[in-house]
Amino acid sequence: MIFSKRMEGLASAIFAHLDNKKNELLSQGREVINFSIGTPDIPPAPHIIKTMQEAVGDPGNYIYAVKDKPELIETVIEWYGRRFGVQLQPDEITSLMGSQEGLGHIALTLADPGDVVMVPDPGYPIFSVGPSIACAKLHKMPLLRENDFLIDVDAIDSTTAHNAKMMIVSYPNNPVTAVAPPEFYEKLVWFAKKYDIVVVHDNAYCELTFDGIKGGSFLSIPGAKDIGVEFNSLSKTYNIPGCRISFAMGNNKVIEQLKILKSHLDYGIFLPVQEVAIAALQGPQTYVQETVQTYQRRRDILVEGLKEIGWMIDKPQATMFVWAPIPRQYSSSVEFTFDLLDKTGVIVVPGSSFGERGEGYVRLALVQSEQKILRAVKLIKESGII
Ligand SMILES: Cc1ncc(COP(=O)(O)O)c(C=O)c1O
Repeated sequence: MIFSKRMEGLASAIFAHLDNKKNELLSQGREVINFSIGTPDIPPAPHIIKTMQEAVGDPGNYIYAVKDKPELIETVIEWYGRRFGVQLQPDEITSLMGSQEGLGHIALTLADPGDVVMVPDPGYPIFSVGPSIACAKLHKMPLLRENDFLIDVDAIDSTTAHNAKMMIVSYPNNPVTAVAPPEFYEKLVWFAKKYDIVVVHDNAYCELTFDGIKGGSFLSIPGAKDIGVEFNSLSKTYNIPGCRISFAMGNNKVIEQLKILKSHLDYGIFLPVQEVAIAALQGPQTYVQETVQTYQRRRDILVEGLKEIGWMIDKPQATMFVWAPIPRQYSSSVEFTFDLLDKTGVIVVPGSSFGERGEGYVRLALVQSEQKILRAVKLIKESGII
């Protein structure tokens, strides 16, 4: 069999390799502490689970949903108004089977083969994979520490900008954890208007912000809706990643095209999951604060613990990740990741798996308990690897 060229970039050798190594250690009875996957270990709030339990008990909920329930759309309108002061209309909203699904598909609506799509480097993998599936040409926008990991639109040459159809932007950012100020978004809107580029802003971590920082919405920037859409995921905010529900909101032409494409690909979100989203967005938000505090405490224990043993890492202001520079004696993040795993049983993700500009870093997800984090710090200390 000869598979399509587009499949060639999809298999990730590094993750398979890491998994094999992990299994090898486990089979030897070694202790493994996994900071590699960004799946929350915190349970959803009780009212969310109760809603799901009741909804799956209703036989009427097993039909093809086809569309979003009107109550769900009203809830999203109310949520964006209350939380960000953004007024949305029903035709400016669609649910997604997770932002991942939307990010995987949206380039198909905007880019023809060979069209330019601009993506951050390092970047969350689907930002590049989605446009690649659409056979678009990727233009990588470097996220550099000296620019506070913000995209520098002034550095994009005008020919590339003129040719670009779409640009994916995401702050608070996975993996680099940076937060963007309103001025960044104002410039982004100006740039996108100048070159007629559709901006897709992924706002998956707007609630997971620390030290009193409050996340915002790209759509609250004047003119943003003229040129862009925002994806907002319930997965991390409400600890329901397995439910697969998120939203795309903003420019109604973009939303309309996405809805048309999706009408051919899926038949809507399972009705109990729609009800879960309504319960999450309408219910008490104190659980979100508890989640944030849990991540913030874990962040402090990890970053301060590693600092004590000589591994200096900037404290992330947001997300559920830590973006850590590798020790100076290592020349590659893959080499460091495997040496760390071998010597300590601690699993991290090499920065280079997020793109060329991720080299020199590793990403740790704050998905282990405080005790496990302390244990990991102890194992790293004892290994002498730093
Ligand atoms: C930046 C970013 N966007 C999107 C997603 C996927 O979100 P969802 O569960 O809504 O598909 C993730 C998940 O880790 C993410 O880190």
